Amino acid sequence: MTRLALVTGGTRGIGAAISRELARVGYRVAAVYLGNAESAEALRQEIGCAVFKWDVADYLACEAGVHNVVRTFGGPIEILVNNAGITRDVMLHKMSPQQWDSVITCDLTSCFNMCHATIGTMREHGFGRIINVSSINGQKGQVGQTNYSAAKAGMIGFTKALALESAAKGITVNAIAPGYIATDMVTAVSTEVLQGIQAQIPIGRFGQPDEIARIVTFLVSEEAKFITGATITANGGQYMA
Ligand code: CAA
Repeated sequence: MTRLALVTGGTRGIGAAISRELARVGYRVAAVYLGNAESAEALRQEIGCAVFKWDVADYLACEAGVHNVVRTFGGPIEILVNNAGITRDVMLHKMSPQQWDSVITCDLTSCFNMCHATIGTMREHGFGRIINVSSINGQKGQVGQTNYSAAKAGMIGFTKALALESAAKGITVNAIAPGYIATDMVTAVSTEVLQGIQAQIPIGRFGQPDEIARIVTFLVSEEAKFITGATITANGGQYMA
């Protein structure tokens, strides 16, 4: 039986590209979404993955959701891609506690929730691949994103610590730090700001979601088994960590 991969935020943007690519190279895919049922259904029909709806910011929902996925597929989650994330861009002096909390919880605490729900079985089976989708803005910071930059930088530290804890158990844990990728999240930023950002990208364009997805399929493959605790940067040269 081919391995089972779960992708959070897996039905839109970078997550959908990751689900597509994993399915294309032969994994069974469970994609978790929260808001947009139409895109979830469209992806399910397109690639034949299973889609599940729950809030990855909610610990108990993750426990129950993982249980449901395992029961549906009749086997454990062997590949976990923590991709779900939101932005609430605003300067710190105008940021509400709720704008802080929602980003930290959805983008960072979700990694704890999902890893906690899946890693026990990975440890028992002696195999696991965990990929955390961080961001260039967790590496360099970004005006208007103290919440998001903190969460995405937190994911990098989380990745390194969990990689150390898991290395002897056949589990690799890596992060990807995409730059500005052409998705709804990025195009929500004003055209004026986006033009300024594009001018800072040496390659001269935004990235495409499949350019991130192919890093995931490499990191989860047998060929990448010596890579753990790494942060793979893909940002068109905008920032060299
Ligand atoms: N560098 C330095 N200062 C900046 C700045 C920048 N890039 N952008 C804005 N400022 C300054 C302005 O000059 C202004 O200063 P003064 O008041 O002294 O003139 C102040 O910040 C406020 O600017 P605005 O009038 O634009 O204020 P605002 O409150 O309406 O918006 C903002 C500020 C929230 C930062 C807004 O400009 C914004 O949303 N910027 C885009 C942030 C961004 O890049 N988000 C990435 C989203 S995509 C993503 O996150 C995916 C990923 O992983 C890459």
